[in-house]
Amino acid sequence: MKGMVSLPRKRIMSGMRPTGRLHLGNYLGALENWVRLQDEYECFFCVVDWHALTTGYEDTSDIRANIREMAVDWLSAGLDPERSTFYVQSRVKEIAELHLLLSMVTPVSWLERVPTYKDQLQQLAAKDINTYGFLGYPLLQTADIVIFKADFVPVGEDQLPHLELAREIVRRFNNFYGPIFPEPQPKLNQVTMLPGIDGRKMSKSYGNDISMAAAAEDIKSRVDMMITDPARIRKSDPGHPEVCTVHSFHGAFSRDELAQIELDCRAGQIGCVQCKRNLTARLQAVMAPLQERRSRYIERPELVDEILAAGSEKARRVAAATMEQVRAAMRI
Ligand code: TRP
Ligand code: SF4
Repeated sequence: MKGMVSLPRKRIMSGMRPTGRLHLGNYLGALENWVRLQDEYECFFCVVDWHALTTGYEDTSDIRANIREMAVDWLSAGLDPERSTFYVQSRVKEIAELHLLLSMVTPVSWLERVPTYKDQLQQLAAKDINTYGFLGYPLLQTADIVIFKADFVPVGEDQLPHLELAREIVRRFNNFYGPIFPEPQPKLNQVTMLPGIDGRKMSKSYGNDISMAAAAEDIKSRVDMMITDPARIRKSDPGHPEVCTVHSFHGAFSRDELAQIELDCRAGQIGCVQCKRNLTARLQAVMAPLQERRSRYIERPELVDEILAAGSEKARRVAAATMEQVRAAMRI
């Protein structure tokens, strides 16, 4: 409205490691939330390639291709470079400078007690991640966030300890040098439970995922492979939707019909073949606009590079302004 002063929008920052093609679980678990946030917030979305190095430093051969692929996945999901800034972490060198300066005020014990640290050391025992860089992972994440003075960080629950650390470091920094950084708050992603096609957690490493790039026929063949209620042999056998992967997917994609599906399944009124056909149609309809956007960018890879270059340039200007303040405050 004319004459009305609009308040500056609050700022969002989040990131993903470029470790390969995203799947439907990533779409529902994170990207769909990010797309929605673009309407209300000023958004910075980062392809965190330095973070990918913390566990994958030995073989970096795929990293550049993965960065571009991730950007295409984001664009296909509907992240809009006109409204949001997306950029590559390693192109904003100011983040590395801030990481270094923050490292001066960060007690090692704070990093060692981050629960993901010990967990990951154990889980990734096959890799040598007894490195300085890996210990500093959440500190680098802190620099990512605070250099943009982000108010909110959309993340999954697993990231809450990292946000907690970020706030502690902000308090310590502001205490020494004056109030430069706001304390970033987590904004939990709305999660829709989506298993992989074999019923376990969806994960590329299990080979049970449905790729965000799946074309209509790939969607059909993945749905056909889904595990249904093993007790059902004939269509008239009463089914147990609670043990069925197809049912879990209907829960995410066919909410409006879920109650009916459950009734029909339990009553032996619908066969699994038909039930899968319905799911395939739903998934194809949901994915069609993503496919359409993806095809535009696949044909023009130079456009993706331009988007990342322009976003990184813009992110760098914002980061550089923060670093002016940081250096002045620290007299460095
Ligand atoms: N650690 C995050 C993850 O594994 C990725 C990440 C890096 C991030 N920097 C960030 C997330 C900054 C939010 C904000 O998912
Ligand atoms: Fe699963 Fe549908 Fe078959 Fe019931 S009818 S077992 S919900 S695929």
